[in-house]
Amino acid sequence: MAPKNAKQKQGMDRFSKFKAEVLKSRDGKGVLIPLLQSAQETYGYIPESAINLISKAVGIPTADIYGVVTFYSQFRLKPMGKNIIKVCDGTACHVNSSTGIIRALESELNLDGDETTDDGLFTVQKVACLGCCSLSPVLMINDETHGRLNPKKVQQILKEYKGRESE
Ligand code: FES
Repeated sequence: MAPKNAKQKQGMDRFSKFKAEVLKSRDGKGVLIPLLQSAQETYGYIPESAINLISKAVGIPTADIYGVVTFYSQFRLKPMGKNIIKVCDGTACHVNSSTGIIRALESELNLDGDETTDDGLFTVQKVACLGCCSLSPVLMINDETHGRLNPKKVQQILKEYKGRESE
């Protein structure tokens, strides 16, 4: 069936490219990690369909592939959220209570060990230093920096972003 729109066509092109790469690696040794990296580059995460495809091509059971994916923190099984929150846990931020900021984010977004909210709106990542230590504690949402934070400020910022999403 012909693709319905440009987005769908782009998705099919990405899939064909990834599939060609998997097939090229058939019977190759030590290809699992590069293939998983390629899947993540292609999709932004590792979808179930990619795991099934890799499993068939290289003859490794899907359960074993999931084992590898969950072992390495570089791999994600869920797509990234629409808004990426980078919360700093570097030294300057840490001494200025970044732990409280992280807790506030997790509680406001109902993140229970997950990085991404169930509605796919936010992904929270802890990072080492955002390079603006004088504003610590700091977080970035997409390209916007928010500094001198406290839990209350985090609540307000998230409220604002959630509001923008519902506009
Ligand atoms: S330690 Fe947080 S911005 Fe540098």
